[in-house]
Amino acid sequence: MRNGMPAHGDRLMTSATIALHELARATDACRECPLGAHATQSVFGEGPVHARLMVVGEQPGDKEDLEGRPFVGPAGRLFDRAVAELGWSRDKLYVTNAVKHFKYELRGKRRIHKTPAQREAEACHHWLESEIALVKPEALVALGGVAARSLLGRHVAVMSERGRWHEDAEGRRVLVTLHPSALLRGDPAQKEAAWKAWLHDLSLASEVLDKTPSPARKKPRATHAPRRTAATA
Ligand code: URA
Repeated sequence: MRNGMPAHGDRLMTSATIALHELARATDACRECPLGAHATQSVFGEGPVHARLMVVGEQPGDKEDLEGRPFVGPAGRLFDRAVAELGWSRDKLYVTNAVKHFKYELRGKRRIHKTPAQREAEACHHWLESEIALVKPEALVALGGVAARSLLGRHVAVMSERGRWHEDAEGRRVLVTLHPSALLRGDPAQKEAAWKAWLHDLSLASEVLDKTPSPARKKPRATHAPRRTAATA
């Protein structure tokens, strides 16, 4: 801020923050596929508006649907544990999902997660693209097959393509790895090995977070977007 006027970089930041809030609102109203009609609300991404690293999951789960925030349920707790072990800070990550509404089936009173159909992920794709265009991350991490397909625009065999950087159609770097739910569901005897392999995959993205800020990115990024508030709900 200079002479009471936001500097050019700050103005860009502000307009991106506003645009992300507007996008969040628009996803909430989205009925381009049937999922929005059954969910409590959309769950948009959150994190620093110009985070270097964007982490993309599949879709919100039960807890995320109720709280309106990504990765706050059991998969999110596992992700947070990995973030801590890697020495990352969730505050530096922009965390979002390929699909913005929770897909589930009712079993009694329980809402059981259902994998989104390809047409549902495709209908949601433009929201994710708009988010990426505003945040402009240096690299992305795809957690699981739905996120990987959404980002790379093709079927991704996660088990054979994990732990490597891939390039999307725009030339953006995308690291593919498992979704944390796969670790929650996996063979208990393999738990420790699976955990270590997952951390190893994710650790490839540390270089993106560790880099010295380039001149254009030196300013502290105080602005976070969007954490659902009364104004955006
Ligand atoms: N699983 C996801 O893919 N995203 C969330 O936000 C929560 C669980």
